[in-house]
Amino acid sequence: MTRGRFVVFEGVDASGKSTQARRVADDHDARFTFEPGDTALGAELRRWLLDASAPMSPVTESLLMLADRSHHAATVIEPALAAGQSIVSDRYWASSIAYQGYGRGVDLALLRAATDLAIGDCRPDVTILLDVPVGIANERRLRDHHDRFESADVAFHERVRAGYLELAADDPAHWRIVDGSGDFAMVSAAVDAALAEVWPGG
Ligand code: TYD
Repeated sequence: MTRGRFVVFEGVDASGKSTQARRVADDHDARFTFEPGDTALGAELRRWLLDASAPMSPVTESLLMLADRSHHAATVIEPALAAGQSIVSDRYWASSIAYQGYGRGVDLALLRAATDLAIGDCRPDVTILLDVPVGIANERRLRDHHDRFESADVAFHERVRAGYLELAADDPAHWRIVDGSGDFAMVSAAVDAALAEVWPGG
């Protein structure tokens, strides 16, 4: 059985990654999945994680994200890949490093070690970073939709964006940076070009 392909979309809130991830999954008959929250346990964790009225420390936040991820990897992603099904995930391990590490200031080395513990060998073939300036992403956000992360300040989102760019620059074999500031057709074409090695001809 040929193992499925594993593609991840990352980016700041309102970068357009969810739209692209769903489109790519449809185009390639892959399973769309997301973090946090795409399992029964994860849905409970997501409720707490996004509730801006329930304060928690950055370390607690990190550990709940990782609990969601390890369960997601073990019960959804890994079995699908092993059965030959491809996966397109809206967020994965790099979200923890970018948001909790670069954004909230959790120790990066400890966070990486904990992330390794959570995902084991279940690593993406490629991660697409949809990069958009934070100002553009903010304009795209709905005014009345402010969860714990969306209500964070601009400096926080600038750190998250810079963190993503650093992660991508450090491992060019596994990352592609796509400019997400254009319209849907432009971004879609750039994403498809970036995925040409994973899905040749498609
Ligand atoms: P998501 O549902 O992808 O929201 P959006 O579509 O608005 O980007 O993710 C919810 C929030 O959770 C988002 O603000 C990013 C945050 N998050 C982290 O801080 N760390 C993580 O490890 C993950 C997976 C998400």
